[in-house]
Amino acid sequence: QAIRLADHRPPSHLVESVALTFRLAPRGTRVLSTIRFRANPDGLADGNLRLDGENLRLISCAIDGQPLTALDYLLTPEGLTVPAERLPGPAFTWTAEVEIDPADNTALEGLYTSGGMFCTQCEAEGFRKITFYPDRPDVMAPFTVRIESDLPVLLSNGNPGASGPGWAEWHDPWPKPAYLFALVAGELVAQSDSFTTMSGRQVDLNVWVRPGDEGKCAYAMDALKRSMRWDEEVYGREYDLDVFNIVAVDDFNMGAMENKGLNIFNSKYVLASPETATDRDYEFIESIVAHEYFHNWTGNRITCRDWFQLCLKEGLTVFRDQQFSADTRSAAVQRIEDVLQLRARQFREDAGPLAHNVRPDSYVEINNFYTATVYEKGAEVIGMLRRLVGAQGYRAALDEYFRRHDGQACTIEDWLAVFQDVTGRDLSQFKRWYTQAGTPRVTARWTVEGARLRLTLAQEVPATPSQPLKEPAVIPVAMGLLAPDGTELLPETLAVLDGPETTLEFDLAGLAARAGVPVPDRAIPSLLRGFSAPVILDAGLSREDRLVLLAHDPDPFNRWEAGRSLMRGALMAMLTDGAAPDPALFDALGRLLADERLDAAFRALCLALPSEDDLAQAAHDARLVPDPTAIHATRRAMQTAMAAALREPLAALYDAMDPGPAYSPEAGQAAKRSLRNTALALLARVEGPARARAHYDAATNMTDEIAAFTVLLEAGDTEVAGRFHDRWKGDRLVMDKWFMAQVAHAAPEAAVATAEALTRHPLFDWTNPNRFRSVIGGLTAGNPAGFHDPTGAGYRFLADWLIRLDAKNPQTAARMSTAFETWRRYDADRQALISAELDRIAGADGLSRDLGEMVARMRGA
Ligand code: ARG
Ligand code: ZN
Repeated sequence: QAIRLADHRPPSHLVESVALTFRLAPRGTRVLSTIRFRANPDGLADGNLRLDGENLRLISCAIDGQPLTALDYLLTPEGLTVPAERLPGPAFTWTAEVEIDPADNTALEGLYTSGGMFCTQCEAEGFRKITFYPDRPDVMAPFTVRIESDLPVLLSNGNPGASGPGWAEWHDPWPKPAYLFALVAGELVAQSDSFTTMSGRQVDLNVWVRPGDEGKCAYAMDALKRSMRWDEEVYGREYDLDVFNIVAVDDFNMGAMENKGLNIFNSKYVLASPETATDRDYEFIESIVAHEYFHNWTGNRITCRDWFQLCLKEGLTVFRDQQFSADTRSAAVQRIEDVLQLRARQFREDAGPLAHNVRPDSYVEINNFYTATVYEKGAEVIGMLRRLVGAQGYRAALDEYFRRHDGQACTIEDWLAVFQDVTGRDLSQFKRWYTQAGTPRVTARWTVEGARLRLTLAQEVPATPSQPLKEPAVIPVAMGLLAPDGTELLPETLAVLDGPETTLEFDLAGLAARAGVPVPDRAIPSLLRGFSAPVILDAGLSREDRLVLLAHDPDPFNRWEAGRSLMRGALMAMLTDGAAPDPALFDALGRLLADERLDAAFRALCLALPSEDDLAQAAHDARLVPDPTAIHATRRAMQTAMAAALREPLAALYDAMDPGPAYSPEAGQAAKRSLRNTALALLARVEGPARARAHYDAATNMTDEIAAFTVLLEAGDTEVAGRFHDRWKGDRLVMDKWFMAQVAHAAPEAAVATAEALTRHPLFDWTNPNRFRSVIGGLTAGNPAGFHDPTGAGYRFLADWLIRLDAKNPQTAARMSTAFETWRRYDADRQALISAELDRIAGADGLSRDLGEMVARMRGA
């Protein structure tokens, strides 16, 4: 049942045009389709007409007006095939009428209802749940859609056509694959605006939400306009329809979807007001609105030939949204946040049983491959390419990519060929980033002899499931050299490690002369600046070297990285031999905190400790068995020690970083709140909760309110949850935070019981993916020590809920099952407990292909 890249065949038929009519009704929607087919001149297939279709009640179908009977086709639960000999010729028109049941569609894939509205999610293979169609991205066609419904707002892709009471028509002139189809119908209100493109065309913009939410769309609209401008300025990409619609939906499996001209969003990534959304929420809204908008060119105008090429659109579009955020906010802070995310999710994935290539070779269920590897590592690969060919080469290659492939469904080979042709660079070895899984490990060692520094870089790519042997990757290592007093000796240069090992030589005497300083007897390499490659670096630095980099590295990423590795080292020493935390580290952090030239958000990041999961992985990498309870306690002890050592500067920052009462989500103000709230949480470790209580009472925005709320929860405040609940019980998105915070900030030994109790709360609607993630994810991701409770109660709780959810919503169940992916790190008792739960899930009645595949891979089957 695995689908393999090697088996890819072009479709037998292409589609010239599609016309769809929807007669909407919650329990029995009729879909009428008229599809103009023509034989594919490049078709290698048998010439049969193969249409995908699932959960469709076929009412009638015909070819060129001649009704087909059951003898004319083969109908299976997966689709319908008309044999070549029943087809009238190379070109013909297929018509069909089917009935579907949107109200019963709890998988939230295809056409479904959410809070009284109709909406769709077709990527990757949801269109086949709407009507019979060659549901594969290399079949592209213009669509015309007619919607019939009494609901007031009726939307589909493209430009609006005629409409009247109870119906509306839409036409999308740009050929697109079926996964970009969308339809929305409901009682919706819009915040509207307009945008004039670089060639002077006016585009109507709308953000559609439920009545009552119209006051919460301004930021999404603003982010959209800024994204449109940025893509014109930075990539020369102009929008290509008369309207651009965004719709917010409460029940949505993922973040958002880039349907042509009609983006559909999880409401959590659209709706925001200062009182209900945090600075972080605003940041996500901005980057996801940008991401989906940027897909219009990287994904829609140029799409993927097949789903193995998913990274072609996702890696590139994530890279583009990261660039946008870096340009809009602080580039250094953005980079650190992106790397934190990459390490937390992608390195974790790459180190376990779910490791896969950025371009996978095979899959059972494609929805299981919308992963951190495809998205985030896929973006890192683009970033490396850009670094290797330079900003100008990159821009020239992108211009050529859009010129050459507009309107096509492409592959990674097409993409790399553009870069080779434009820059003349041979990328055959670079391509391994797409075809080899696993995070490369780079080791750096150096010696100084007679003012010559010899730096040796070596790499190793670890074995991953089904890939025991690896070839060396092409690793761009941005680097500099510092003198022991912090003077910059070698300004940033790019070294490229493309074999198992390479040695570089530097003449310290010459470098010192150029820098105008005496020749030092040693130098400190600052390697992998800006995290120039997604690798694990053993930098070979001493504690003293790292303190120098923390104080002086001109590269802000490596400055932060030096602090982080010192902190991780100190935590590991506390964990393994009870060593007291390093006072030199606290001194260095204290100096950094007081440095007003540094961005407040950067300072906040420097104060943040590595996560519990990060430490568990660090323990595992050091060939220790991580103890989640001890890790939790150690981390808390570190916070207390840090707070005690830095109490005065933290209290001073708490006062100095008050941005005042007028809220703005922009980066400068958000940075202050971030540093101030970091100080608040640390100070509570030594002062008790009084300050947090006052902070909570004084809060006029959700960023401050939730920050104080979590501190109070950790301090054991028993009444704050009730107060928060009474204030916010009417707001779904805020209540998601309420559910999540209580689980994530419960004491480990109480976490499972807290989560269980919350699943019995009247507002716990487990069929809503956001609410499910709040409680179940609040435990698995938010409270690792609670999840890994030695009794196995956390594992049982997760497995029970996965089995229950899987029957309704396989996609979200499969996604949440990744909480088990690290199970081999732990002790034999925990492994046995998890293994038993994985077996129990594997044996569940009617297990979905989605969850079935995940469990099989995690068990190593
Ligand atoms: N293409 C969408 C995005 O990246 C996500 C679609 C996720 N689909 C899925 N089946 N998981 O913006
Ligand atoms: Zn995307």
